[in-house]
Amino acid sequence: MSSCRLLENKVALITGVNRGIGQTIMELFAQNGANIWACYRTLDIDFEAKLKSLATNNKVSIKSLHFDLANEQQIKDSLRPLLKNRDRIDILVNNAGVAHGSFFQMTSIQQIRDIFNINFFSQLLITQLVTKLMKKQQSGSVINLASIAGIDPEEGFIAYGSSKAALIYATKTLAMELGPDNIRVNAIAPGLTDTSMARQMEVKAKERMINQSSMKRLATPDEIAKVTLFLASDNAQFINGQVIRVDGGM
Ligand SMILES: NC(=O)c1ccc[n+]([C@@H]2O[C@H](COP(=O)([O-])OP(=O)(O)OC[C@H]3O[C@@H](n4cnc5c(N)ncnc54)[C@H](OP(=O)(O)O)[C@@H]3O)[C@@H](O)[C@H]2O)c1
Repeated sequence: MSSCRLLENKVALITGVNRGIGQTIMELFAQNGANIWACYRTLDIDFEAKLKSLATNNKVSIKSLHFDLANEQQIKDSLRPLLKNRDRIDILVNNAGVAHGSFFQMTSIQQIRDIFNINFFSQLLITQLVTKLMKKQQSGSVINLASIAGIDPEEGFIAYGSSKAALIYATKTLAMELGPDNIRVNAIAPGLTDTSMARQMEVKAKERMINQSSMKRLATPDEIAKVTLFLASDNAQFINGQVIRVDGGM
């Protein structure tokens, strides 16, 4: 176990921890001493056993919460007990999200609404609830997993890119509104990262994106998680309202 644990005694709430970038963030946070509210969609007994051993191995507490980001009531019901108990939450990582690729004329407005519900409105709802606790504490760090797709326009990504652009705008605005309460709000904009999300992408689009990166490869989930750890830690205590690209240079 590392002698210099960056998140010792902090409490982090992370969404989408059951796979991909979210799982790697949770593991790195636990290794760095954070107690964790591990949020994922559906209770899974095998995964609960993994959470238990991650907690034991790192001498931290990990408790799970279950909700579908498309279901506003489930989110509220899951988080209400934390608000009622005035639980401490130092770090919120809005990680869970869905990809969507299709050209504008082939995309129904309902599909765009569905993507916004998961990638944008649910993140705002969770942030609104959790920052109530952070305001009481007069401290906190919120990290939104955006995407370079929310900055660089790309054909065929109208729904996904717009939802991430909205999340970036919200990040900057909330940083201004919540900064006076010592709550920092930042975003990470990963390039293509080696998870099931990237694996599902059409091969040609994937190759084009890899070629755009000066390092000519995908990011690893660990490379995204390390930046999340930095933003969550006191090492970033005066960084607010920023969008950090982690894309290998484009
Ligand atoms: N991979 C990339 O290339 C890339 C690039 C830029 C940004 N990002 C962003 O990074 C974040 C993590 O992506 P990833 O690559 O780790 O994706 P991933 O491997 O596909 O994992 C997505 C996570 O989000 C959860 N999720 C999706 N829809 C949900 C819903 N309706 N309710 C609850 N949970 C839901 C998934 O849970 P289930 O297992 O239940 O579906 C899973 O835990 C996302 O916000 C993504 O947009 C990824």
